[in-house]
Amino acid sequence: MLLKNCRIVSSSKIIMADILIEGEKIKEVGVGLRGDEIFNLRGKLVIPGVIDLHVHMRDFSQKYKEDFTSGSKAALAGGVTTFVDMPNSSPPVIDAKTFRRRLEEAGRKSLIDFGINFGVVTDNSRFLKDIRPSFCKIYMDGTLGEIDDETLRNAIRRCPKTAVHAEDINVIKENIEKFKGKEVSDFHLKIRGPEAEEKAIKKIASLTASLNKSVHICHISLRKSLEYLNENVTCEVTPHHLLLTNKELKEKGGIAKTNPPLRSQSDTNALMGALKNRRIDIVASDHAPHLEDEKEDEVSAPPGIPNLDIMLKLFLTLVNKKVLTLSDIVRTMCENPARLLGLKKGEIKKDNYADLVILDLEKESKIEVEEFYSKAKYSPFEGWRTKGCPEVVFIRGEIAFEDEDFIVKRGYGKWIGGM
Ligand code: DOR
Ligand code: ZN
Ligand code: ZN
Repeated sequence: MLLKNCRIVSSSKIIMADILIEGEKIKEVGVGLRGDEIFNLRGKLVIPGVIDLHVHMRDFSQKYKEDFTSGSKAALAGGVTTFVDMPNSSPPVIDAKTFRRRLEEAGRKSLIDFGINFGVVTDNSRFLKDIRPSFCKIYMDGTLGEIDDETLRNAIRRCPKTAVHAEDINVIKENIEKFKGKEVSDFHLKIRGPEAEEKAIKKIASLTASLNKSVHICHISLRKSLEYLNENVTCEVTPHHLLLTNKELKEKGGIAKTNPPLRSQSDTNALMGALKNRRIDIVASDHAPHLEDEKEDEVSAPPGIPNLDIMLKLFLTLVNKKVLTLSDIVRTMCENPARLLGLKKGEIKKDNYADLVILDLEKESKIEVEEFYSKAKYSPFEGWRTKGCPEVVFIRGEIAFEDEDFIVKRGYGKWIGGM
């Protein structure tokens, strides 16, 4: 297949060229290429498929919240061609048998390519010799049970790649104790105050320096956190920590509840600056779907926001508003995630997999939760006006999504561990 006259976006520039696809891969990028099955794109913008490093597909016993089919459809319609699944499923992915079951489930159901993470708990590092997770995920907030310092240290030392949810369990526990039984407003913000993230990130940064190992820090949310980053850590930011503040939590209640919590305008400004100046490496959705009903009561609502359907739209809107450039998007959503995963994706160049997104940068729409392919029909971004959207999505040389239609079927997605 030959795509003629594409405006191809990379992290450094936009060039006008043709893309020759052979099988699953890009055979050549250049001017005046020859081939058959020609599509003339007449100057349309093309970016690499988005790679989302942080997704909770639920499935297993919580498939009523999301399964690999519904979640991967939301992703694909949103221009995402590869995702990495988090291990806090039910049951959690903390042993080799469950890891293989997860792989099998995703392989049967996903429309797009996927990686699977492994959750770190005390005494489960022995399973690592038999499996190949994208990352070992460490929850410092006790999501998978408390992690002592030795487990944390050993995980960073032994796992090939680690990703961390950085909120310190002891700070959270102290806060719960402090506010127990008291009438407090902003309970969630106080329990998971900034000091919980600061302490955790400080600890991780110093461990990575002393062990000389790298770690990926998930969803940073504070201006202050940026001060602790060093050359051993990469980090990510989510659409909600970049675009929403705790004002939205006050207005929208449970729907805007997430961990770490939404912070202040000063924090979002600092995060946007850090994304532009490359101190933040990656944008990831932290797609964390729950039932709309569960989100009604703010106090009992489970934390998490479903973003897969709309993440790219939100960022293309920022391009139209001249806050970001298309190259910023490609760097943080395609190239850097591919580099972290060691994948031949994320860049439109010879020998990479042909994962491509043709963009319509002019199309305007409004975020309507009823249109989500995700099972989670709620969003703190509901009603936002967007400009720019993915139009056609290719995965490994095949048209996968076009004109709001899914062209590939469930099971088309491949495990990136086998690529
Ligand atoms: O808001 C969140 N939701 N943060 C997490 O760390 C977990 C996630 C979930 O699984 O719902
Ligand atoms: Zn997390
Ligand atoms: Zn998460």
